[in-house]
Amino acid sequence: MKADVLLGLQWGDEGKGKIVDVLTPKYDSVARFQGGPNAGHTLETKEFKQVLHSVPSGIFHEDKINIIGNGVVLDPVIFKSEIEEISSHGIDPHKNLFISKKAHLILPTHKLLDAASEAAKGKTKIGSTLKGIGPTYRDKIGRDGIRVGDLCNNFEEKYQKLTENHKQILEKLYNFDYKEKLEKLEKEWKESLKVLRSFKIIDSEHKINELFKDNKSVLAEGAQGTMLDVDFGSYPYVTSSNTIGAGACTGLGIAPQKIGKVFGIFKAYCTRVGMGPFPTELFDGTGEKLRIEGREFGATTGRPRRCGWLDLVALKYANMLDGTTELLMMKSDILDYFSTIKVCTAYELNGKKITEFPFELNDDVKPVYTELPGWNTDLTKMKDAKEFPENFKKYIDFIEKETELPITVISVGPDRSQTIFRK
Ligand code: GDP
Ligand code: IMO
Ligand code: MG
Repeated sequence: MKADVLLGLQWGDEGKGKIVDVLTPKYDSVARFQGGPNAGHTLETKEFKQVLHSVPSGIFHEDKINIIGNGVVLDPVIFKSEIEEISSHGIDPHKNLFISKKAHLILPTHKLLDAASEAAKGKTKIGSTLKGIGPTYRDKIGRDGIRVGDLCNNFEEKYQKLTENHKQILEKLYNFDYKEKLEKLEKEWKESLKVLRSFKIIDSEHKINELFKDNKSVLAEGAQGTMLDVDFGSYPYVTSSNTIGAGACTGLGIAPQKIGKVFGIFKAYCTRVGMGPFPTELFDGTGEKLRIEGREFGATTGRPRRCGWLDLVALKYANMLDGTTELLMMKSDILDYFSTIKVCTAYELNGKKITEFPFELNDDVKPVYTELPGWNTDLTKMKDAKEFPENFKKYIDFIEKETELPITVISVGPDRSQTIFRK
């Protein structure tokens, strides 16, 4: 068996949580491969609504194995509160949730370093979620990090050494007043380790490869989106991990030939939260309408998301990098309210039309739009693609032709049931 990968093709928040939850019954296991609690993956059913940050979105299917892979960075405090919330819905996450020994720990000082670094950047700040993601991955790559497996391996000594190092940076580089904050953060961090230690901490790369051998299927769940990838996204306004398909290999210990399908998720329009370029961003009433109708406020930070039209130049670039084999279109229902819908099919740069994603997306890059008629019909109660209005079918056809990929799933609302399989 191989692993299918499910990932975001835009700037995150495409609806990955919802779709992973919907697809989980078809798999034996679900594994998160990168990112950390900067992610906010929303699951909605008639009974409950839950935002997951580090736990895979298959957790509500109790018979399925859920794995937090080595590529993930884990904050024990957020993990603890997530576990408490999941348990409050009558699910016992201890049964089938496994954590990689090689996942790196987000320390209290990583969060403080994130805050200090952003404050020092001033106008050029990234707009980070301030969950300590960048500093934790920096320590991982710098070979200073502490892993979940270290909890029973000279942990106290490693913790003190790294924390001391961070304190020096906070004081000397950033002149950051951390003492009171750190005391409080450390207390809850150390308390929450008890919950983390109560889980099955394993060599997850072996577990996943054994699943393949036993003919069991794996769904690898991405966080963030391709345009936030540290190598290929709108650098430096990106996150600190590889969000692209290849990230599933390094983030789980899967060889490239063991990757099967790649499900690329995109919203029928575009959003971005945080700073950085966004060619199709709308600053007018249309952008505001997308934000209100789409309830576009961050699942992790509550920040209003920036909104704009679908950008096919960026989407095609993402498909190339990810090796997308099929597309899943989310939040189609939000476009029910627009009589004209625009799609960016090229950029104009220095008077020239380009269709290739440029090295830098600066203010000189302007979107070139194709206009399509809206459908002004409520999609949210539809159960079958046959019911779709003609103009919505045309929108789907247009994207399929442009991307040369099939759109196999259409989402018409946040609930599990509002998902239509086309092919
Ligand atoms: P993720 O980070 O990719 O999992 O996405 P988020 O959970 O951050 O944001 C997606 C939001 O859209 C959540 O509030 C979902 O409940 C909601 N959502 C997902 N799919 C749809 C859809 O098809 N229509 C509508 N209206 N909402 C959706
Ligand atoms: P999910 O998985 C949307 C953005 C932040 C910021 C940049 C860097 O829910 O799609 P970081 O905290 O990683 O240092 O922030 O990346 N960002 C996300 N935007 N969805 C996410 O995750 C994101 N995770 C990080 O807003 O611009
Ligand atoms: Mg999200």
